[in-house]
Order: sequence, then structure tokens, then C-alpha cells
Amino acid sequence: MSSIVCHPILDSQNGIATDAVIKKQRPPPLVLSRPKDLIQEACQRLVLSDQQLRRIMQSMEKSMEQGLATSTKKVAVKMLPTYVDSVPNGTESGDFLALDLGGTNFRVLHIKLQGKETKMTGKIFRVPESIMRGTGEALFDHIAGCMAKFMGENDLKDAQKLPLGFTFSFPCEQEGLTKGKLVTWTKGFKASGVEGVDVVTLLHEACHRRKDIDIDVVALLNDTVGTLMACAFQENSCQIGVIVGTGTNACYMERLDRIPKLAGYVDEHGVTPEEMIINTEWGAFGDDGALDFLRTEWDEVVDRESINPGQHLYEKMISGMYMGECARVVLEDLAKQGLLFGGNSDAISVPHCFPTKFVSEIDSDLLEDDDRTFQKTYQILEDIGVEMITANDCANVAYVCSLISTRAAHLTAAGIAMLLNRMNKKHVTVGVDGSVYRFHPTYPTLLDAKIGELIVGDIEYKLMLSEDGSGRGAALVAAVATRLKEEKLAASLSSSSSNQ
Ligand code: BGC
Repeated sequence: MSSIVCHPILDSQNGIATDAVIKKQRPPPLVLSRPKDLIQEACQRLVLSDQQLRRIMQSMEKSMEQGLATSTKKVAVKMLPTYVDSVPNGTESGDFLALDLGGTNFRVLHIKLQGKETKMTGKIFRVPESIMRGTGEALFDHIAGCMAKFMGENDLKDAQKLPLGFTFSFPCEQEGLTKGKLVTWTKGFKASGVEGVDVVTLLHEACHRRKDIDIDVVALLNDTVGTLMACAFQENSCQIGVIVGTGTNACYMERLDRIPKLAGYVDEHGVTPEEMIINTEWGAFGDDGALDFLRTEWDEVVDRESINPGQHLYEKMISGMYMGECARVVLEDLAKQGLLFGGNSDAISVPHCFPTKFVSEIDSDLLEDDDRTFQKTYQILEDIGVEMITANDCANVAYVCSLISTRAAHLTAAGIAMLLNRMNKKHVTVGVDGSVYRFHPTYPTLLDAKIGELIVGDIEYKLMLSEDGSGRGAALVAAVATRLKEEKLAASLSSSSSNQ
């Protein structure tokens, strides 16, 4: 590894490298310098104005209203009822199992709720790509196998069946708390025979095939709902749950009188709740063309080369599964135009060679390195095989990464601000989780600042990092469901005894 230290001078206005290169231990290769404004000009479309963000907010709310009105497959933003209409009241307690499937890892957890305390033991299992894209039966057999292993190792096999919360982080059309048909796979999953089928049934069938474990699924939930519930357990003003990780999505408490497709709905107690958590599935916003006015040719490449072209277009401009690839496609194009790497695009043209964690690391270089040495950026580019890296290249790569991550943060801010404006409640806590939110150095600050600029009136909000919504949240939904079931049983017992 060579130890070049590059010190490009940055234009203080826009952060783009000028041609001047000062101090260096080893001179970068000589290449013809390019005027900085060519890169800036080429990337202009990645910078979103507040006016464009407001247009997104308006059009997203319109898409959401279409989703609230009808369950047809045609609407882009599905607005799926979750059948969760109460948040934890703090008295939840007991032992629960939680399953968490939503990415390349699958987790099984044993959770003990005791007052505000939670004790968790769990195990993480990998879901190999061959299983993600094989048959549904193989996928659910894998899940059941992992559960059996965990239950065996933790002496839970013979224990009385524990109430189980299943966090399944894909769009599910639920018919109640314990039933939900997968609408469509996202995030690189493609297991056959699952779309359109109830995933709780598939899980039960897989357990029956094994014969050695039995389960009692009391709640099926999305990770956004788990996030909301986990935060609401700490702060009862939490009314929105957001994930910005491998995928992105949000859920929020909606008034029932604003959900036409649930007209006439009564719960198992014969009551119409005032509100219900709606899983927006906002990742699919734009699938009907609503985002075309700002999607770039680079976004089109990312989409075209993905496993689900034409689907989840908003997600593809934001989340961790795509952010790095989007930056790579931009860099490849700039190299092909001769604006980077001396015009050599070979190394950067390899699909997926630039994961989102590189965007985070390079953005950290911009943030932490006062001298603008871009050591980390240089190292990353060298590791992926780019030859002829100049100081300007490093600074310009960092510039592109910061544009891509800022755009992602601002697009997410538009979604959250729209929900806050729509709910129009005085004080709302927004529970947030996901690898991009947790690990990108500037994403949370950029998100927060832009939400502040886009909300109207005197709404107050706070972003709160959720502590393991997919695990703890699943136990909490299971606990609330169990508590409500017990309350119902007690009420019916007391009414039958008073009738005697
Ligand atoms: C899925 C959502 C999920 C989100 C975050 C998206 O791809 O469609 O259901 O909540 O990823 O995990």
C-alpha cells in the first residue's frame, strides 16, 4: 500500500476540489486538470431544492391518500393497515419469542419484559443468497431450522409455548394481527411461492414439517412498527417509526376516519378504534412515475440492474442497499467522461464494488480530516483497483458521495415532514433505526435539519434512535396483543358470571 497524502484545496463555497495540489509525500500522477465546474455541472441534478422537496411532499401525500382509499394492486404506496391500534402502556411483562427476518441476517430472540427493563438472549443466523432466491419452502425450512437450534440451545423446546412476535420486514397485506400475505419481495429477496401467500401459515407449515418445535404466533409486524413500539415504550409521544437501513419505510398512527378502505372496521372486541398504525411502504413511492421529474439517468441504471426493476424507486434513491451503487454509477460515468481517474473507468465499472459503507467512510473523511488529506478515500479507491488517483479525484469522489448521501437524507426528510404536517399533532417523537441512520456520519444531522425546514406551523418533533425495534418491538407487540386477549377473556368471564 503506498502512502500518498493528497491535499487538494477545496473551494470553500461548494466543497469541490480546485486544481491546486499542495503538500504530498509522493506526487500523484500528472493528469490534465479539469475545470471544477464540469463535475459540479454534471452532478447538479443530485442537489434537490426545497421547492422540489415540497413538490415531493405534496405528491407523496397524494399517493398515500390513494393507498388509504383502496387495496387494489395498482396504487404505488400501499398504506397497509397493521391492526396495531395501541402502543405499550408500560405494564407489559412476560417471556416472549421474537423472529426477525428482513435482510441477509435472521435473528431468533428470547425476550423477558420486566417493567421498563428488557432482557434478551438471541442468535443471529445468515440467510445465504441461494436461500433468499430459492424456493419459499426452503426459506421457511431454514427459518424453522434456526429456531429449533436456538430453542434447543436455550432449553426452550419443552417450555410452554411462548407468545411469538414475527418481524417480517417486507410489505404484507394483513387481515389481522396474525395473518399477512406478502405483497412483493424487496431488498434482494426473491424466494418463489411466497408472494400472495400468508407468511404465518408458511412458518407454521415449516415447523410442522420438522415436528420438533411448536410455536404460537400472536403478532406479525413490520420493522417500522417494531421501531415505533420500542420507542413508544420509552416515550409515549412516539407516533412515527422510520427505517433507513438496507431498505427504507415508515409507519405512523393514522385516524381511522381517514382510512376509507377500513370503513366499517371493528376489532375483535366489537370496537372501532380511533387510530391505527399504517405501514406506508413508502419505498414504492414513485413507482407510478411520481418521482420521474427528479430521477436521474444514474437512478435509472441502478434500477434497471436491480433484481426488481421499476419497483421501490424511492427506496432505491435512499437506502443502504442502493446508495453505494448509485455513487458508483455516477463515478463510472464521470470517469467515462474523462472527469475522473484520468478517464480510466475499468475498476469503478464493476457492479457493486462500491458498497454504502464506502460512502459513509468517505463522508467521514470529509468531516474529520481538517487537512483534507483524503487518506481513507485514497485507500478505498486503491483497494478497488482504481489506477491513476489524483488528489483532485479523491476530493471529487468525496464530493459525489456527499451529494448522494445528502440527497438521500433530504428525500427521507421530505417523507417525515409530510407525515408530521399531515398528523398535525403538537409534539411527536419519531423513532428511527437502520444502518444508514446509525452509521452514516452526517445523515442524522442532515435529516433533522431538513425536517425542521419543511414542517409548517408550530409542530414540535424529536428524532429518537430506536433500540432494536425489530426484536424488542416484536416482543412489545406480542405483549400488547397478549394483554388485550387476557383483558378480553377476563371481561367475558366476569360478564358470564354476573349473568348467572
Ligand atoms: C420493505 C419494508 C421494510 C423496509 C425496511 C423495505 O424494502 O418493503 O417492509 O420496512 O424495507 O426494512
